[in-house]
Amino acid sequence: KSRKTADPTADPSLRLDADKHQDEAPSKTKLCVKAAKEHHIPQDPNKILENKVMESVLELSYVKVSVVEMTCSGDADSEGIVSRSVSSHSDLIPGVYEGGLKIWECTFDLMDYFSEAEIQFTNKTVLDLGCGAGLLGIVALRGKADRVHFQDYNSTVIDEITLPNVVANCINKGRRMDSGKDRTASKPPLKRPKIAEGSPDELNKCRFFSGEWSQVSQLLLGSNKPFSKYDIILTSETIYNPDYYSALHDTLAQLLDKNGHVYLASKVHYFGVGGGIYLFEKFIEEKNVFRTSIVKRIDQGLQRCIMEIAFKDSS
Ligand SMILES: C[S@@+](CC[C@H](N)C(=O)[O-])C[C@H]1O[C@@H](n2cnc3c(N)ncnc32)[C@H](O)[C@@H]1O
Repeated sequence: KSRKTADPTADPSLRLDADKHQDEAPSKTKLCVKAAKEHHIPQDPNKILENKVMESVLELSYVKVSVVEMTCSGDADSEGIVSRSVSSHSDLIPGVYEGGLKIWECTFDLMDYFSEAEIQFTNKTVLDLGCGAGLLGIVALRGKADRVHFQDYNSTVIDEITLPNVVANCINKGRRMDSGKDRTASKPPLKRPKIAEGSPDELNKCRFFSGEWSQVSQLLLGSNKPFSKYDIILTSETIYNPDYYSALHDTLAQLLDKNGHVYLASKVHYFGVGGGIYLFEKFIEEKNVFRTSIVKRIDQGLQRCIMEIAFKDSS
């Protein structure tokens, strides 16, 4: 399956909530402090895959979102984000739904970069921050990371998208992604995921969190479970809204190991919301905590970048 189909919005701008017009000046988002929650993997992980239809891209399985849109209602959509995003044709409803149901194109840019730069995940502690489908964390898991944590703003995204994707990819162990170059594979038929014998080891390396960044950070740091800071934080398409920069910056500062690295993938500019790579770079510079470097620029289609971030005083 081509990655174009995996990211159905080739649209150059974000589809914002219908009542927000893209030519309006971006207004301040009311910062909603969505409480943090840890989501546990059920004893029988296969339960998570019930009613799910899977597709695949680059040998990674992911939940078919149009089926989730048709089937997720009532308790399963207690946040109301599936119904609201469908009815308003929105990829983002600031403070309500932050876009995690679909796979965004910079995810694939970052996956390409991992292969090109030979980023090593072996024995690393990794956070997929603003994970949505969680493909970046799944790649880290396949790269033999020691632990991978997944965070999304919306609990529905974690339950209906991230967890099923992680379970499906852990169970479906025969289908490995190696170099990220297998883009020409023809589309496989839609399939039900294979049934697992039990919870494979990889699943035990994973934890899942929903909630606003500062809340998740507090939950992790304040918990009585042992917590070691992350060697690698992966984050794709999370800097579209300048109102969130402070929370994002502080979360990175609190959760990254002193010698850790953040790999951030982003569009150069997010039309309609106002964020973008240079604004975030300037924000970071002013805070004077991290050094940044743009390690890759992508010019096909909308301009995009990969930025590497590390503490100023790191080795
Ligand atoms: C546009 S989606 C990108 C999803 C995924 N990384 C991808 O590339 O497909 C942005 C993600 O950032 C997260 N996010 C955005 N703002 C957030 C905030 N203030 N607090 C917590 N998470 C946030 C949301 O969970 C959402 O999934």
